[in-house]
Amino acid sequence: MSSVSAVPNPSTSGSAAMLYGGASGRRVTVRDIAAAKERHEKWPMVTAYDAMTAKVFDEAGIPVMLVGDSAAMVVYGYDSTLPVTVDDLLPLTAAVVRGSSRAMVVADLPFGSYQASPQQALETAARFMKEAGAHAVKLEGGRRVLPQVEMLVSAGIPVMAHLGLTPQSVNVLGGYRVQGRGQSGDELMADAKALEHAGAFSVVLECVPSELAQRVTASLSVPTIGIGAGPDTDAQVLVWQDLMGLTPHPAKFVKKYFDLAGEMDRAVRSFADEVAAGVFPAPEHSYR
Ligand code: KIV
Repeated sequence: MSSVSAVPNPSTSGSAAMLYGGASGRRVTVRDIAAAKERHEKWPMVTAYDAMTAKVFDEAGIPVMLVGDSAAMVVYGYDSTLPVTVDDLLPLTAAVVRGSSRAMVVADLPFGSYQASPQQALETAARFMKEAGAHAVKLEGGRRVLPQVEMLVSAGIPVMAHLGLTPQSVNVLGGYRVQGRGQSGDELMADAKALEHAGAFSVVLECVPSELAQRVTASLSVPTIGIGAGPDTDAQVLVWQDLMGLTPHPAKFVKKYFDLAGEMDRAVRSFADEVAAGVFPAPEHSYR
């Protein structure tokens, strides 16, 4: 049996039950996430795509990491999430699992890998669980993907749902715009309830009015995870390059916690200047 050590976090250390910053001797499970909703604990989720950043986030006490299909844009440099494939995302997911020991790692099912049928969804999700070691999967859509959600849940695969702005449908939505205003809010609410009924353990709400997100959160017994959905969802997720200040033009909902692009620019220019000046490597960086 592995020993249990507390993640050092000033606001939560010592509280083994907490989802954020709680005990780190085992992986976070869907039961822990359900329990957090019951005690009204808010929690953070971030994306991760490689082992070293995953380790930093894991040690900071982040309880859930998403290997998002946003990798299409932030890792692979495409201008939408549509081109990324299962084979592109599998090694990133495996790296995040290897780099972490506590967080639940959720693998995003990319465009075209689950929509065709529940069978296709099961085959894709099984690859992420078997080949990459993912602990759960995420897919986009409401009632139209219920058969897929039911199939995955019945096969023992935890499913995170995703409503609102679903980037894989950007061509139908007509751009990256706020969803669920007016009557379509009722549709989104019905989708959320149907997904919960089908067994989804959580629901991402992306770019929806805060008031709608608040109502959905109050109506569901599973947690909502907001991104551009206001302050009342149970959890909040951000793409790590957005929150660290690496993304050149982030969306309105992003808060920049660090200037990583600026810091990297300064560091790499210092390195380059020192190489050009013959200052690096110094004796202490050289072997006798
Ligand atoms: O792919 C992704 O990173 C996501 C989050 C923005 C929720 O789906």
